[in-house]
Amino acid sequence: MNTDTDADDAESTSNCGATTGEAESEPSGSSPSASGSKCGASIAEADSAAASSAETAGSDSPSGSKCGAGTSGSSASRSPASKANSSTAGSKCGASSSKKREKTKEKVGSTVDDFDAEPGRLVAVGLGPGHPSGMTERARAALLAAEHIVGYTTYIELLPDEITERADELYDTPMCGEVSRTEEAIDRALAGNDVAIVGSGDPNVYALAGLALEILESKGATATMVDFEVVPGVPAAQSCAARLGAPLVNDTVSVSLSDHLVPMPEIESRLHAAAKESFTIVIYNPWSRKRRANFEKCCEILLAHRDPATPVGIVHGAGRDDERARIVELRELEELGETELVDMTTTIVVGNEETYVWDDRMVTPRGYETKYDY
Ligand SMILES: C[S@@+](CC[C@H](N)C(=O)[O-])C[C@H]1O[C@@H](n2cnc3c(N)ncnc32)[C@H](O)[C@@H]1O
Repeated sequence: MNTDTDADDAESTSNCGATTGEAESEPSGSSPSASGSKCGASIAEADSAAASSAETAGSDSPSGSKCGAGTSGSSASRSPASKANSSTAGSKCGASSSKKREKTKEKVGSTVDDFDAEPGRLVAVGLGPGHPSGMTERARAALLAAEHIVGYTTYIELLPDEITERADELYDTPMCGEVSRTEEAIDRALAGNDVAIVGSGDPNVYALAGLALEILESKGATATMVDFEVVPGVPAAQSCAARLGAPLVNDTVSVSLSDHLVPMPEIESRLHAAAKESFTIVIYNPWSRKRRANFEKCCEILLAHRDPATPVGIVHGAGRDDERARIVELRELEELGETELVDMTTTIVVGNEETYVWDDRMVTPRGYETKYDY
C-alpha cells in the first residue's frame, strides 16, 4: 500500500516527530541519495560549528553550497567533493511549535543567532499531484533556481531529472520527518543557501507552509530574512475533482481524518457541521491501518446527515501511475475502507444534496439552472 504523502501521513505507520534515530533507521534503499552524507552541524556542534557552517561547507563544495544545522534524513550532492558535516550527537531537529504547545518537549535545534552567513531564500513549493506534467511553470522555475531541495523521500523521487540534476543538494527524509525536515530547510537557508522545500499538492493544504513560518518564528528569524515565499501547486482536492467530473463547483469544505495533530472529537464535530449543511466535502487522509476507526466514524456521521444514495467520488493516486477513480453511493463507502482503493494516497469527494451522476461523472450544480434555461 502506498503511503506517499507528507505531514499528516506520518502517523500511519510510526511515531511522528522523527528525530535523527528514526530517520536514519529508514532503509537506505528508499532514498535517492547515493552518498547518504549529511549536511550541517548537529546541535551539539552548533555553538562552535554552526556559525562557521556556511564557510566550512562552502569551501568543501565546488558548488559553493552551504549547509545548515540538520541531522536526520539523507542528503545527496551533485558535487562529488562535497563534504558536509555529519552530526555527532543525537540532535533534535524539532518542533518549533513547542513554545505554543505545552505538551511537546521538543525544542528548536538552532536559533538564528547560530548563523552568521547572509541568509539565502526559502521557498515552499507545491508539486501538484505527482507527475511532472501536473507541476506549474512557476513551481518548476522555483525548483530550478534552488540550490538545495528538501522534501519527503517520495516527493524527491517524483521530481524530474532536469530539476534534481540542477540542484546542488537534495535532502530527503522518510515519513515522519516533517518537522526535522522543515527545520533542516530553514537552517540551510539561514546558512546562506537558496532552498526549496517541496510537498505534494499545495503547501497551504495540510502541508508545510505554516510549519515553516512557525519554525522561523521560533528560531528568532523572520520570513523576510529568508525572503520566504509560497509557490502554490494543484491540491489533491482539485486533481481528484477533475478526475471525477465537476463535483466541487459550489461551496466545499475539506476535512482531514488524521487525528495526529487534531483530536478526533474536533474532527467529528467538523464533520457534523459540514455534513448537515449543503457543502460538498473533501476528505483528506481518509484511511490508514491505525485510523480505521476514524474512517468508520466519518462514514457514520456522513450517513447521519446525508442520503445513503449521495454520490461519493474516490480517487487514489491522482496524477500518478497507479491512479484509480470510482464513483459510488455513500452507503457503500465504509466497506471500501478495507480495499486498496482507499488509503493514504486517496482523496474522497462527498457530494451535496444536489450532486448527481451523469455519464459516469459527478456533477454538482452551481445554480445556473435556476436562472437560465438550457
Ligand atoms: C498531508 S495531505 C497533503 C495534501 C497536499 N498538500 C495537497 O495540497 O493536496 C495528504 C493527503 O492528500 C491527499 N493526496 C495527496 N496526493 C494525492 C493524490 N495524488 N491522489 C489523491 N489524494 C492525494 C490524500 O488524502 C493524502 O492522505
